[in-house]
Amino acid sequence: MSDKINNKIKVNTQATRQPENSVQCYFFIFRLPEYLFINRKNNMVQRSKSSTTWMNEHVNDPYVQRAQKDGYRARAAYKLLEINEKDKIIKPNTVLADLGSAPGSWSQVAIKLVGKQGKVFALDILPMEHIDGVQFIQGDFREADVLAQFESLLENRPLDLVICDMAPNMSGNAVMDQARSYYLCELALDFSQNHLKTGGCFLVKVFQGSGYQEYLTAMRETFTVVQTRKPDASRNRSSEIYLLGKNKR
Ligand SMILES: C[S@@+](CC[C@H](N)C(=O)[O-])C[C@H]1O[C@@H](n2cnc3c(N)ncnc32)[C@H](O)[C@@H]1O
Repeated sequence: MSDKINNKIKVNTQATRQPENSVQCYFFIFRLPEYLFINRKNNMVQRSKSSTTWMNEHVNDPYVQRAQKDGYRARAAYKLLEINEKDKIIKPNTVLADLGSAPGSWSQVAIKLVGKQGKVFALDILPMEHIDGVQFIQGDFREADVLAQFESLLENRPLDLVICDMAPNMSGNAVMDQARSYYLCELALDFSQNHLKTGGCFLVKVFQGSGYQEYLTAMRETFTVVQTRKPDASRNRSSEIYLLGKNKR
């Protein structure tokens, strides 16, 4: 299992270009400080405009307001609730893993639905405030020792369901962000292949674009049925979509 993880392509975030000729050297030595200063100023203006727009949109969002009223930690709760309404993937007694669980709204939804005999195991790189009944591990899912810790929490219980809402911090570099996101999705699919019961289900957030078709093909090799879901709470302008693999082979 750890070999599989180690074999995945690590995304290199350190790639930088070096000057190749004297014109570029001139630019790097004499003009770069000025260039960086101007762009930093422009970036700051742009960023503060876009964060104001984001804040206005967030405060007025009906799902944000509903989440506050219903006691959910994030509006994402309504995405899972809507999918579950249709597909009934979480039922009393379901044993499930929630990958990328913080701040915890999917775990809040899940623990209510699985009842006393069900189980919810959750993992995130960020801390997550305690939820009664949810067993949580904080760590980076890409790391073999974190995976091993999470697996020992499961105590070899086969899972009925894996739900994965993991998304990396967006850097603004679309190509890099897409690659990082699919890397996490691939690890989640590996995890599902290793821990789901035959007949189990896997719900995963993916971003349409590069890598989507290949991932869909891999899902189809693992599950007899693969469906797409775009719940109302998922913003139209977002390329996110949920893939639901049913009936693990
Ligand atoms: C959209 S949020 C999940 C929201 C959650 N479903 C909820 O309802 O509260 C995505 C989560 O993925 C987590 N994440 C990103 N990269 C991760 C990694 N390498 N390992 C574990 N979690 C990761 C982030 O920390 C973030 O909390």
